Amino acid sequence: MTQPHASFTDDRLSYLNGFGNEFASEALPGALPLGQNSPQRPAYGLYAEQLSVSAFTVPRREQRRTWFYRIRPSALHGPFRPIELGKMAGPLAPPNPNRLRWDPLPYPDTPTDFLAGLHTMNATAPAEAASGVSVHVYVANRSMERVFYDADGELLLVPQEGALLILTECGRLDVAPGEIALIPRGMKFAVLLREGKARGYVCENHGAPFRLPDLGPIGANGLANPRDFEAPTAWFEERDEKVELVQKYLGTLWAATLDHSPFDVVAWHGNAVPYKYDLARFNTINTVSFDHPDPSIFTVLTSPTPVPGTANVDFVIFPPRWMVAEHTFRPPWFHRNVMNECMGLIFGVYDAKAEGFVPGGMSLHPRMSAHGPDAPTTERAMAAELAPHKIENTLAFMFETSEVLRPTRFALETPALQKDYDTCWAGLPKLFRRTP
Ligand SMILES: [Fe+2]
Repeated sequence: MTQPHASFTDDRLSYLNGFGNEFASEALPGALPLGQNSPQRPAYGLYAEQLSVSAFTVPRREQRRTWFYRIRPSALHGPFRPIELGKMAGPLAPPNPNRLRWDPLPYPDTPTDFLAGLHTMNATAPAEAASGVSVHVYVANRSMERVFYDADGELLLVPQEGALLILTECGRLDVAPGEIALIPRGMKFAVLLREGKARGYVCENHGAPFRLPDLGPIGANGLANPRDFEAPTAWFEERDEKVELVQKYLGTLWAATLDHSPFDVVAWHGNAVPYKYDLARFNTINTVSFDHPDPSIFTVLTSPTPVPGTANVDFVIFPPRWMVAEHTFRPPWFHRNVMNECMGLIFGVYDAKAEGFVPGGMSLHPRMSAHGPDAPTTERAMAAELAPHKIENTLAFMFETSEVLRPTRFALETPALQKDYDTCWAGLPKLFRRTP
C-alpha cells in the first residue's frame, strides 16, 4: 500500500469552536445542501449519508447525528473478515481488589500503528458486553495506513508522548500531549504520527456520549468552557486506491478492503463530531479557604448514567494550580470510594505520589480500595508551612467510573506491572497519642 495520506503538508488546521453545536462545514462551495438533508441529486455528484450516534427518538437534547455529503456512500464495501485483535480487548483477569500500578508500556521493536499498539489495560465488562468503559494504552511507531472505526463506543484519546494528526470523516485534528481528542462512536479515523513515536491513553466509552458536566453553584462559566473545544473543518481526499477499513465490533476486530479512501466527505453538518481540547484551557476551580474539595471539581467531561450524579465515566484532570488552603492537609486525602479510579500521568509529578507514578504510567484503585498520598508525600504535607504554593509543570488525569474496573490478563502479566505498589504506603507511621 502506498503512503496514503497527503496530510502533513498543512502547517495549521482550522477548527470550528464549541461543544455540542450544530456545526456545518464544506470543503467545496455549495457542497452543503441548504434547507434539506437529502436532495434528489446533491451538488458535485455527492451522496448524502447520516451517521446516527444516538437513537432517532431520544430527547432532542440527547440527539447526536451528522449528515455527510461524500464521494461514495459508506455502504460500498465487501464483507468484513475477522482479523487478529493484538493486545486489544483481551480477556479480563479474575476479580482482583488490589491497588495496582504500572510503569509506562515500552515502545515496540517492530513497526506498529496506533491500532496494533492499543493495549487494553482494564475494563468494566468483558469485551463482548460493550457496556461501561474500557481503558487502553497505545504505543505506536508508525502512522496508520488503514482506517478504523469503533462500533463499541466513542474514544477519548489522551496523548502522553508524540503529537498526532488524526484524520476523520469530518476533517483533521492536530493533537499534542496536553490536549485530548474525542472521536464519536462509529466515526472513521486514522492516527498519523507527527513524530517518530507516540504513547498515550484511550478511554473507550461504551455508555452515553461524553458531555460537559453541569456546573451547579459554580455558575455559567468555568471548568472546561464550551468554546474551547475545536471540531474540524471539512476536508477530503479523492484517492482511488485500496484502503483497509477496520472496525471493532463487540470486542472483535474485522477488516474490509475498500477501493477508495473513506475520507471522502466533502461537506457535513451535525453534532456528532470529533473534537480536540487543550487541557491548559481548563479553568481550574478549587478551595480558597480550607479543605481539599472532592476531585469532581476537576471534571472535564462526563458520561452520565440514568442515576443522577453517578457517572458511567468522568474524565478528570489534575492540572497546574495554586494551593492556598489554610490549616489543611493539602494533598488528596486518604479515602475509599464506591467509584473506580484509573489514573494516568501526562507529564510532571502528581501531587499525591512522590515517586513510582511516572509519565506514561497508570494506577488502578478499584471499588472501596483504600488509597491516598504515599508516605513521603504525607510526611511532607503534615510538616509543610502553608504559604500559597503553586503546583506547576504537572498534568495527571483520572477515568472514574461507577462500574468496577477489572484489569486484563495482559495488564497483570506485563512486566510493566509494579510488584510493590502497596509499599508506597508502608512507611506511614503510627502518630497516635492519647493527648491532642
Ligand atoms: Fe482516589
